[in-house]
Amino acid sequence: MRNLPGLFQECLITSDGGKPSLSLPLFDSVELDIDLGCSICLGSVMSIERRRSEQSLMQINGSNGTSMMLSSPSSPSPQSHQRLRLNPNTNHNPENYEDLHLEFNPCVYTSLERYLPASMLTVTRQLKVDYMKEILARYYSPQGERNRVQKHREYRQKIIESYQPLHRELYTMNPETFFVPSFLEAINKNTEESLRRIISEPSPGVFTFEMLHKDFCDMLLSEVDNFEKWVTESNFKIMRPNLMNKYGAVLDDFGFETMLEKLMDDFVRPISKVFFPEVGGSTDSTLDSHHGFVVEYGKDRDVDLGFHVDDSELTLNVCLGRQFSGGDLYFRGIRCDKHVNTEYQPEESFDYSHVIGHAVLHSGRHRYGARATRSGHRINLLVWCRSSAFRELKKYQKDFSAWCGECQREQRERQRLSVAATKLQLLRRRGDNTAA
Ligand SMILES: [Fe+2]
Ligand SMILES: [Zn+2]
Repeated sequence: MRNLPGLFQECLITSDGGKPSLSLPLFDSVELDIDLGCSICLGSVMSIERRRSEQSLMQINGSNGTSMMLSSPSSPSPQSHQRLRLNPNTNHNPENYEDLHLEFNPCVYTSLERYLPASMLTVTRQLKVDYMKEILARYYSPQGERNRVQKHREYRQKIIESYQPLHRELYTMNPETFFVPSFLEAINKNTEESLRRIISEPSPGVFTFEMLHKDFCDMLLSEVDNFEKWVTESNFKIMRPNLMNKYGAVLDDFGFETMLEKLMDDFVRPISKVFFPEVGGSTDSTLDSHHGFVVEYGKDRDVDLGFHVDDSELTLNVCLGRQFSGGDLYFRGIRCDKHVNTEYQPEESFDYSHVIGHAVLHSGRHRYGARATRSGHRINLLVWCRSSAFRELKKYQKDFSAWCGECQREQRERQRLSVAATKLQLLRRRGDNTAA
C-alpha cells in the first residue's frame, strides 16, 4: 500500500454478506476489496497504528502513510460537497458509537470519523452518524455489489487463463494424500468421540489437531512459490489476502476455490457441529462460504501480526512450514462486537506454538495476534469459514452473544448480584420476624 501513492482514483463502499467493504480500483483491472467490518482490512486501509503490546486493546487508529482517495457522496448535510480526508486525522479522538443501534459495526463509524472533513469533526455525534450513514448507504447498494462480484470474477479468470499450476493434483480434494490418517479416520467415523480423540482444546475455544500430511504441505509451498514466480515474471498485480498481510496469496484466486470449499464442507463442518454449536448447529452446520489464503512471515516478509479479530465465523489456521523460530499465536478471548475492546481474563490468555501440519481452529471473534517470526520463514494456510445464517441471526436475535466471554461475565455478575439481593432480602425478613 505504502509504495503505491496516488493510485486510488475512487473508492467504493460495497457490501459483502451484510458487511460493508471499501472497493479500491487499482490500475485498470485489479480491485482491492477491503472489508470495513474486519479490523484487519479496516485497520490496514486506515493505516492503523499497530500496537506491539499484547495487552493493547484493538484499536482502529489512523496514523499516516496510506495514500487513498475517498470520493464523498452527496449528502443532505451542508458539508456534502467536501471530500473525505486522504489520510486519517490522527489528532482527532473519535466518538464511541457502541451504544447506538447501527447497521454496521460501531468500529466502522469510529474509524470513518477520522476521515471526515474538518468541519464535520466539531458537529454533534448524531450529525456525524447521519453523515456517515449517508456515505455508507450511498455505496451499500445491490449495483455496487454486482460490480464488485463481476470484477472479482474477471480478475480470477485472467489469472486462471494464464497461470500454469505446478502440481495439478493439489487442486482436487484427495483426502488420502492431503490428510494424516488419524484425522481422516476421525472425520470418516464422524462421531463426537472420534473427533474428541484427535482434537485438543488447550484453552477455551481454541482447538488444535494434526491435520495435513508433510508431503502435502511441501507441495502446497512449492505451488505457492511457483505462483509467486509467475506473478513476478508476468508482472501481474495480485490482491494480497488482506491488507495487514502484505505477503501471501489468495488461494481461491488461482484455482483452489473448489478444493477449499470441499475442505470446509467435508472436513471443517463436521468439527464445527461438535465444537462450535453457534455455527455448527445441532444437526447441520451453517458454514456456507470461505476465504482461503496463505500468509508468509519472516525476514523480508511480514514479521508479526497485530492483535485483531477475523472476518470469519471460524478460522482454520494450519502451519505449512518452513524452518522458523517464533511466530507464536497469542489468544485473548472471544468477544462480540460490543465487547471487542474489553480486557481479557487471565484464563483467556493462551499462547500457541505452530507445528508443521497441525491446525488451530477458533472462532473468528477470538481475539488474537501473531508474535514476531524471529528467524527463518513461516507460511500458514488460512481458511476463513463464514456463515450467512449466523450473520443474519446476529442482526435480529436478542441475547445472541452467549459465546462472548464478556457477555458471559456480565451475565454471571447480574446473577451474582440478584442472588446477593435475594439473600439480603431473606435475611432482613428473618430479622424482622425475630424482632417481631
Ligand atoms: Fe487473522
Ligand atoms: Zn459481548
